[in-house]
Amino acid sequence: MPKSVLKVENLNKHFGRRQILHDISFETYAGEVFGFLGPNGAGKTTTIKIAVGLLSLDEGDIKINGISIKKDFEGAIAQVGGIVENPELYKYMSGMQNLKQYARMRTGIDQKRIDEVIELVGLKNRINDRVGKYSLGMRQRLGVAQALLHRPKLLVLDEPTNGLDPAGIKGLRDILKDLAHKEQISVLVSSHLMSEMELMCDRVGIIMNGKLVDVKSVEELISSVSGEFVTYKLKVDNATKAISLIDNVNDDNKKIIDETHIEVLIEKENADNVVSNIAHKLITNGIKLSMLCPAENKKLEDVFMEITKNGGVQIA
Ligand SMILES: Nc1ncnc2c1ncn2[C@@H]1O[C@H](COP(=O)(O)OP(=O)(O)OP(=O)(O)O)[C@@H](O)[C@H]1O
Ligand SMILES: [Mg+2]
Repeated sequence: MPKSVLKVENLNKHFGRRQILHDISFETYAGEVFGFLGPNGAGKTTTIKIAVGLLSLDEGDIKINGISIKKDFEGAIAQVGGIVENPELYKYMSGMQNLKQYARMRTGIDQKRIDEVIELVGLKNRINDRVGKYSLGMRQRLGVAQALLHRPKLLVLDEPTNGLDPAGIKGLRDILKDLAHKEQISVLVSSHLMSEMELMCDRVGIIMNGKLVDVKSVEELISSVSGEFVTYKLKVDNATKAISLIDNVNDDNKKIIDETHIEVLIEKENADNVVSNIAHKLITNGIKLSMLCPAENKKLEDVFMEITKNGGVQIA
């Protein structure tokens, strides 16, 4: 059983008379990156602010590492590290000085821990530079380092890749995955970028209009709408001859793309057998088979559009 780190139970939140969160419940585990995905105004930041103790809740509860935010606020929040708005950094100080300053305000953080987090976020070479000279990506890394200093069980980042370039996004993604998978931290990130979530997260919760509509692994989400068939692409020296040799697939499910390419639709259920039979048949009949691979799966972006198309993506 994975270890539950964040447990959100029937969370409700109003701003004035307007209900913003409706009965939100989900759990995140140690060792995973959990993505909170939803369009603008869905309620991601509100939920995250409540989870890191920046905002109060109306009804429900949040438990962090088993500690209820209602019963022991300080105890629960001590288990969380987070960046919700921009990380609070002093521009005129170096990265190292920032971390030391932050460490002084907390108990139990020594130089060894500071060096450890610098290593974890890959900022060793620039840690003595002034933060004012840092790029956005470097500031984000320093923010993560700061959030990690007190050894939180849960790391929460609201839209962490905002404004980063592709290399910066990949760098941060790798750091967050490592923190989850290697350090066994539970990482919660929010985003409205579906393609980003697909690469970064193990599981995704989709929130719309303040309601959690689905929580699934990335694979489950993709396969839940991509159906029971997979398209395989083949490259051969003679497409016409090759397609006539493929006799274990219905005619409707195979087509010639050009002289050297074929596409075959194969049921996922028995795909391994069907694919190896096709390869064997072609090769033993003198066809030169130079590629046989599944076409790229439906992206999470498409899945998200499909899930949200009936609910509308209006700003609530
Ligand atoms: N302090 C506040 N007072 C009143 N309404 C608020 C407040 N903060 C947020 N809201 C409303 O709550 C809803 C959810 O906002 P929230 O910031 O949680 O969305 P989000 O999913 O983070 O969106 P985005 O992707 O744009 O960051 C919105 O309708 C917003 O207008
Ligand atoms: Mg937000």
